[in-house]
Amino acid sequence: RILILDFGSQVTQLIARRLRESGVYCEIWPFTADAARISAWNPRGIILSGGPASVHEAAAPLAPPVVFELGVPILGICYGEQLLCQQLGGAVEPSDHREFGRAYVDVADDCALFTGVWAKGSREQVWMSHGDRVTRLPAGFRVVGTSEGAPFAAIADDARHFYGVQFHPEVVHTPHGAQLLRNFTHGVVGLSGSWTMAGFRATEIARIRAQVGSGRVICGLSGGVDSSVAAVLIHEAIGDQLTCIFVDHGLLRQGEAEQVVETFRDRFNIRLVHRDASGLFLGALEGVTDPEVKRKTIGRLFIEVFEEEAARVGGADFLAQGTLYPDVIESVSFTGGPSVTIKSHHNVGGLPERMRMQLVEPLRELFKDEVRELGRELGMPETIIGRHPFPGPGLAIRIPGAVTREKADLLRKVDSIYLEEIRTAGLYDAIWQAFAVLLPVRTVGVMGDGRTYDMACALRAVTSTDGMTADVYPFDMAFLTRVAGRIVNEVRGVNRVTYDITSKPPGTIEWE
Ligand code: XMP
Repeated sequence: RILILDFGSQVTQLIARRLRESGVYCEIWPFTADAARISAWNPRGIILSGGPASVHEAAAPLAPPVVFELGVPILGICYGEQLLCQQLGGAVEPSDHREFGRAYVDVADDCALFTGVWAKGSREQVWMSHGDRVTRLPAGFRVVGTSEGAPFAAIADDARHFYGVQFHPEVVHTPHGAQLLRNFTHGVVGLSGSWTMAGFRATEIARIRAQVGSGRVICGLSGGVDSSVAAVLIHEAIGDQLTCIFVDHGLLRQGEAEQVVETFRDRFNIRLVHRDASGLFLGALEGVTDPEVKRKTIGRLFIEVFEEEAARVGGADFLAQGTLYPDVIESVSFTGGPSVTIKSHHNVGGLPERMRMQLVEPLRELFKDEVRELGRELGMPETIIGRHPFPGPGLAIRIPGAVTREKADLLRKVDSIYLEEIRTAGLYDAIWQAFAVLLPVRTVGVMGDGRTYDMACALRAVTSTDGMTADVYPFDMAFLTRVAGRIVNEVRGVNRVTYDITSKPPGTIEWE
């Protein structure tokens, strides 16, 4: 396994992605990680990530010296390369020739990193992002690649198996980057790339059994991908020692509550408590119009109802959660001050602290798409695994203004027609998230010979890779008009349909 030390680059997670894709297990730790912890983890190789700092700054983050003493191969990327040089006796200087974006490396010599992809004398496209540059190599190193702005764009110390690159091999804009990383992990370090989802499933099941013993576990099931996969995996490990609690706030999409019950109780034989708490939630939301108050109300009630049901189940020692890797990476931040809260995404936030239970988090080493792969491995239906993300507060934040049961029912109908058409057109998987929003306005229309004065709705569909930024999905007009026609004809109470064409930023994906 490989340890990635993070110096705060925006793209550090991509290094882990590329390694996992080639079957190598790795973890990302902050550069401040304790030396004893690093040696105890026994990495077979170490990657030093890029980062926004300059090695010249007084408080420049350094790699813990232990990494150079473990006798394992090291790859320094960008800032990581500069650290290799700085800390091993070379020199780095600020450069007046900054390189950002696409650049070209002239391959000066053969090197274990380049095997099979880059040949001596060729010119290769890479992605750079640096201001400083290495100006003198530490003893033992040779130059294997140069670029206009970086005379030491790639360096190698073959004896110690230390390598440095000024460019970023982990991003797709470095076309052979994944292969270069693979040359490091497979070629230099000598890993076989045997980390597979089937293997993960087996080890994780053993790990859950060892952790839980004969104890009992409760798990909050939302119907979303993460909690669903966690529940099925844990159930496979410990069977009826697991009880799932599905708190139904009445703000789910059409047919979803039934589908959760059917899938988990009937198909996977998981003990499932289905608590229909829609009356409680809708009652508490009455007259609430502020989006953050909606979120807080729902979050608070969720915890209350969950605790109530957990007490009724009784005797649970563990709380299971579908926490993913991006949630647990100890992030390195150089920005200092607090960032602005745009929206409070809490969902079940605060639950573990309040319940004072030990956590079972079998997905905490996985990325989202790996969770989907694990779900497939576990034989879960594509309808659950491939599902679009859905916010914890559900339809409440898709009904600007006060939420009522009638509005939620109306929105469910609109939403299901829209999603049905998207599926029929074969577009569901090309879209990150698609949903309808019920607008707090009435508009005039004409149907038959009569005047209507009904609600308007907006349709939204975006593409995204992580929900942080998003583009509008470019439906063709024929599709949109077909959907609008069906909605107005089939949903009594809605007489106008609009399509939201705002990207994120400046918009957000949800309307509230
Ligand atoms: P925004 O609207 O911030 O959404 O662009 C980004 C992603 O987060 C989801 N979202 C939420 N998820 N609780 C959640 O669990 C929330 O309160 C919440 N608000 C937004 C949104 O659906 C999108 O996938």
